[in-house]
Amino acid sequence: MKTQTYILKCQTVATMDPTLAAAYGLLTDAAIVIENGFISWVGQHADLPKKFNSLMVKDFADRLITPAFIDCHTHIVAGGNRAEEFEMRLTGVSYADIAKAGGGIISTVKATRSATEDQLLTSALQRVDALLAEGVSLIEVKSGYGLDVECELKMLRVARRIGNSRNIRVVTSFLGAHAIPPEFSGRSDEYLNQVCIPTLKRAHAEGLVDAVDGFCETIAFSPAQIAKLFDVAKQLGLPVKLHAEQLTNLGGSALAASYAALSVDHIEYLDEAGVKAIANSGTVATLLPSAFYTLKETQVPPIDLLRKHNVPMAIATDCNPGSSPNSSLLLTMNMACTLFNLTPEESLAGVTGNAALALGLQDTGIIKPGLRADLAIWNVNQPAELCYRLGINNLAQRILGGHYA
Ligand code: NIG
Ligand code: FE
Repeated sequence: MKTQTYILKCQTVATMDPTLAAAYGLLTDAAIVIENGFISWVGQHADLPKKFNSLMVKDFADRLITPAFIDCHTHIVAGGNRAEEFEMRLTGVSYADIAKAGGGIISTVKATRSATEDQLLTSALQRVDALLAEGVSLIEVKSGYGLDVECELKMLRVARRIGNSRNIRVVTSFLGAHAIPPEFSGRSDEYLNQVCIPTLKRAHAEGLVDAVDGFCETIAFSPAQIAKLFDVAKQLGLPVKLHAEQLTNLGGSALAASYAALSVDHIEYLDEAGVKAIANSGTVATLLPSAFYTLKETQVPPIDLLRKHNVPMAIATDCNPGSSPNSSLLLTMNMACTLFNLTPEESLAGVTGNAALALGLQDTGIIKPGLRADLAIWNVNQPAELCYRLGINNLAQRILGGHYA
């Protein structure tokens, strides 16, 4: 549709606006006025202000409109694949043992280093296209499979190129503190000081970094090392987020909270003290049920405590070749319900409003006047259907910044 200013009409709109009383911020017999890429009015069609009467109306009848989806945690740029490790894990070898033996993240580092920018882009786009087909308008993309200056920069450039190659917004996170590369084995402090931090500064200077991430874990970096990295992020004026409490509880979430982190991610082993810390800092809990599923984890994140302390919960694919070879947010929403007992409403908030919060963005994620018109239109009658069906993609139309996309 070329017109910049128009009205969308439909039976049901799940605005996901938490200030509205109804579940899902639901409106029926609804209309959305879109002007120059932004939402200027939302409400019941019967209440449409007269000044909009002359605008063209696009009637989506009995369909459902939601905010477009946001995948707020991906490692979508990566070389090679780890099907052999999948087979090994099926025989009982653990993710941590594979990592200790030089596989895991390090095997993807080798494949990513030897790939060209174009090869990385081509393979990433296959996964991006799968997300786009499910109504995704915005993805976060991490580095962290380079672990040297050139390859970390290469990954971030590819991430930016995704945004130029497809109709999608991309935000980047620098994840140089993802693993210790083989050439620094046993010398993680040297890696951090000599490679990771200087690379962050250079990538930031090139405009390639929107946030700084790390992996705080016994098999990765200690809280003290992450603090050192976050101090640099703070000096550079960059927000932080953290892979924390995925396999053990090292107190990474509380540390991240002390830096007002945008999100802490995974958090299967988070305790109540950690939940209180992130509640106080306004940090989003990003749940990654597909990594939990793939690794056959049995420790469920502390969902009830997150609810009790009103911590916003986001959900993401964690799309990566090892712990989550998954490019479907619809499937991930189902997993969040079935594996973590989230309600379908919490799941939908997790890939819309709360996912935007996890990226520090206030211009998208809910359907509300003043926000970007990033919308998904579905061939379903009620929002719970999006979480309930497996293997069916009911997307009818994606709208990005007011444009059919
Ligand atoms: O989010 N936890 C650490 N990082 C990734 C795993 C990446 C990999 O296995 O390649 C994650 O699960
Ligand atoms: Fe991750």
